[in-house]
Amino acid sequence: MEGVTVVDHPLVQHKLTLMRDKKRSTKGFRQLLNEVGMLLAYEVTRDLPLEPVEIDTPVATMQAPQIAGKKLVLAPILRAGVGFLDGMLTLVPSARVAHIGLYRDPETLQAVEYYFKAPSDLADRLVLVLDPMLATANSAVAAVDRLKERGARDMRFVCLLAAPEGIDRMRGAHPDVPIWTAAIDEHLNDHGYIVPGLGDAGDRMYGTR
Ligand code: PRP
Ligand code: URA
Repeated sequence: MEGVTVVDHPLVQHKLTLMRDKKRSTKGFRQLLNEVGMLLAYEVTRDLPLEPVEIDTPVATMQAPQIAGKKLVLAPILRAGVGFLDGMLTLVPSARVAHIGLYRDPETLQAVEYYFKAPSDLADRLVLVLDPMLATANSAVAAVDRLKERGARDMRFVCLLAAPEGIDRMRGAHPDVPIWTAAIDEHLNDHGYIVPGLGDAGDRMYGTR
């Protein structure tokens, strides 16, 4: 599927299976989301451009590669997107962080915005938008709308699970934003939940409900 990368690494797939199990504890779910965040960060940054920099090793001077451009921005959609953050920051510790507060109205399934705070120079940075779940994509589309309003031009969306409906909506609304996901599930149910999915990611991560 154009613009969609399914991360089929065995560690990601194994951990996703553990997370789907409704018997997984809050602690276990949170730990796994953190670990998968790390693995997804590795995959989504795989093609970042490098530039040479001159350094002195203890033995000689050399031209060595470093990641080109400004530090990237991690933009978790609250709450569940925060579950990816620590794992990703472990691999990309100097990244900037933008917080996007959105929740999905359970009746209308529309995204309701309540918070936004981002670095001022989004236009100059690659932004990784983070949310474990891409269901209707109302939240993802609203988050990217808002980031674009604030100047972001180069974005990637990273999730754990996507519904085909959400992928279509997101690709239609923001074809310039490629998607990385660990799996594409079957469909959405009448309440907008991904089937078979893993339930409500925020609730499972924080032990709410
Ligand atoms: C969940 C999830 C996404 C959104 C996905 O958040 O973390 O943000 O739903 O659904 P959508 O693609 O249909 O918009 P939720 O609204 O439950 O908020 P929470 O993370 O605060 O629990
Ligand atoms: N949000 C979730 O957390 N899970 C779903 O299945 C759909 C939206």
